[in-house]
Amino acid sequence: MTAQLIDGNALARQIRADVSGRTAALKARGIQPTLAIVLVGDDPASQVYVKHKVNDSSETGLVANLERYPADMAEADLLARIHALNDDPAVHGILVQLPLPKHMDSHQVIEAISPAKDVDGFHVASAGALMVGQPGFWPCTPHGCMKMLESIGYDLRGKHAVVIGRSNIVGKPMAMMLLAQNATVTICHSATADLGAMTRQADVVVAAVGKVNLLTADMVKPGAVVIDVGMNRNAEGKLCGDVDFAGVKEVAGWITPVPGGVGPMTRAMLLANTLEAAERAAG
Ligand code: GUN
Repeated sequence: MTAQLIDGNALARQIRADVSGRTAALKARGIQPTLAIVLVGDDPASQVYVKHKVNDSSETGLVANLERYPADMAEADLLARIHALNDDPAVHGILVQLPLPKHMDSHQVIEAISPAKDVDGFHVASAGALMVGQPGFWPCTPHGCMKMLESIGYDLRGKHAVVIGRSNIVGKPMAMMLLAQNATVTICHSATADLGAMTRQADVVVAAVGKVNLLTADMVKPGAVVIDVGMNRNAEGKLCGDVDFAGVKEVAGWITPVPGGVGPMTRAMLLANTLEAAERAAG
């Protein structure tokens, strides 16, 4: 193995410790940082995710209030609830767990969240703020990836980063964050013709498609930093990313594992964003 591991668990622990300390400081001023988590319906994966978010919050001193609603909830009722949470000064962050039931318009629902409480960073105002370099909340997964690059002291200036995947919550914001650090950025699609020709030029590759073995050793420049955002199950049912870890670790300079890489960082950045929302509200 030539690559050094970027340990998401260890870095997430550091971020949670920082959040804990700053939370204690706010509490000493009589402010309890609070996250409202809204879950509609009973999607099994969503139930696991929100449980993690509630536990992560309480471990760092944040309060996470989980509100559960039936799958047949009317969209108007959900919007009314979000407006009430927007108006509640005791609530600093609002997270609506996705996916929502099919009869709801997720975009409309997310747009109802006050940008000041949009700790997921999914609101158009949050995306716009990132694009123009203004303060706002950054989506947790790409923000966590940037923290991973920062943790190894990586200077992105003048480097070529290739992002594979163009989702609104990972690929596109990731590209903006890399650009803001003066990298040259190429955004690819899983269907990009000769993807390897692109990735072989990259000093940093971020794989965020959701496809097992999307990135193989022959597609990686020796010494490159490889960040694996994928969360898949392989043929044996084992959790794995988009990167052929066994092969790529022999070529890359740095690599993130799955599990124990980007996943814990995403969870930690939600806590950081929630605390940040409370700090901004406190002034
Ligand atoms: N569903 C899967 N991931 C996420 C996430 O990061 N935020 C929300 N709100 N829903 C999700």
